[in-house]
Amino acid sequence: MAREIQKVGVVGLGTMGAGIAQVCIQAGVETVGREVTPELGEAARGKIAHFLGRAVEKGRLSQEDGDAALARLKLTTELADLADCDLVVEAAFEDLTIKHELFRELSEVVGEDAILATNTSALSVTEIASAAAPPERVVGMHFFNPAPLMPLVEIVRAQQTDEAVVDAAYAFAQRLGKEPVRCNDTPGFIVNRILIPLLNDCVRVLDEAGVSPEDIDRAMRFGAGWPMGPCTLVDLVGLDVHVHASEALWQGLREPRMAPPARIVAMEKAGHLGRKSGRGFYEYQ
Ligand SMILES: NC(=O)c1ccc[n+]([C@@H]2O[C@H](COP(=O)([O-])OP(=O)(O)OC[C@H]3O[C@@H](n4cnc5c(N)ncnc54)[C@H](O)[C@@H]3O)[C@@H](O)[C@H]2O)c1
Repeated sequence: MAREIQKVGVVGLGTMGAGIAQVCIQAGVETVGREVTPELGEAARGKIAHFLGRAVEKGRLSQEDGDAALARLKLTTELADLADCDLVVEAAFEDLTIKHELFRELSEVVGEDAILATNTSALSVTEIASAAAPPERVVGMHFFNPAPLMPLVEIVRAQQTDEAVVDAAYAFAQRLGKEPVRCNDTPGFIVNRILIPLLNDCVRVLDEAGVSPEDIDRAMRFGAGWPMGPCTLVDLVGLDVHVHASEALWQGLREPRMAPPARIVAMEKAGHLGRKSGRGFYEYQ
C-alpha cells in the first residue's frame, strides 16, 4: 500500500480545507477541491487567490509562481472527480455521520492503494476509519489553523492504520514544507490534549483570581513567553471550536480540567464566538 503522491483531493474547502489546498498547490501538487456547491468552491478559491495575492504584494511570492499555484487547483462538487487522487484529505464538518458517509463513498471512488486522511480535531480517527474499505488506508493528518502558516501536522495512527500509510502521510507533510509528528489516536492527540486544559485553566483564573483578560494575556506573554495571550488565542480559534474540543476531551478522559469553563459556554450561547463574530473576550471591528 501507499504509492507516490502526485495528485491530492481535499474534501470540504472551509477554514481548514481551503488552507490545506493552498499549501498543496504552493508545494507544486495538483489538487482537486470538493465542496457541496459551486459557490462555496469559488468562495474558497477567492480566499486562496487573496492570500496568494497578498504574498505577491509583500514580495514573498512571484506573480508567476502565484498564478501557477492557482492553476493547480481544480474545483468540483462530485466526489467521483477525486477518482485519480493518490491522497484525499477530508476537512468537512466535524460530524461523524458526514465523515462516515464520505469515507464509505471515497473508498469506492479512489484507487485501491490511495490514502484517505482526515483532518478531524476531536473525533476518533479509528471510528472514522471503520467506514472505509480497507480501513488500513486511513490516517489522521491534523493541520493547525491557519494551515498555510502553522508548521505542525500531527500524523495520527488509528488502530487499523498500515504503518506504510503513516510513513507516506509523514513524508507528504514534509514535502509540503511542514513539521510532522507521529502520534496515536488518543483524545486531543498531542497539542490539544495539552493546550485545551491549559487554556481552560487560564479562563478559570479570570474568575477565581478576578483578573482581566488583558492582564492574563499580558501575564502569559511577558511571564511565560507565549506569543499571544490565552484570551486572544481562544478568540482567534473561536469559542465554539474551543468548547467543542473541550467537550470531546472531557468525554474521552473525564478529567475536570478538560470540561469547558461555564464562562465560555455562556459566551458561546450568547453568540460571542471571538474574532469571527466580532466579539469574544475582546471586541473586533
Ligand atoms: N477550525 C480549526 O481550527 C480546525 C483545526 C484543525 C482541524 N479542524 C478540523 O477540520 C475539519 C473542518 O473544520 P473547519 O473549521 O474547516 O470547518 P468549516 O465549517 O470552516 O468547513 C467545513 C466545510 O466542509 C464543507 N462540507 C461539509 N460537508 C461536505 C461534504 N460532504 N463534502 C464536501 N464538503 C463538505 C462545508 O460546506 C464547509 O465549507 C473538522 O473536522 C475540524 O475538526 C479544524
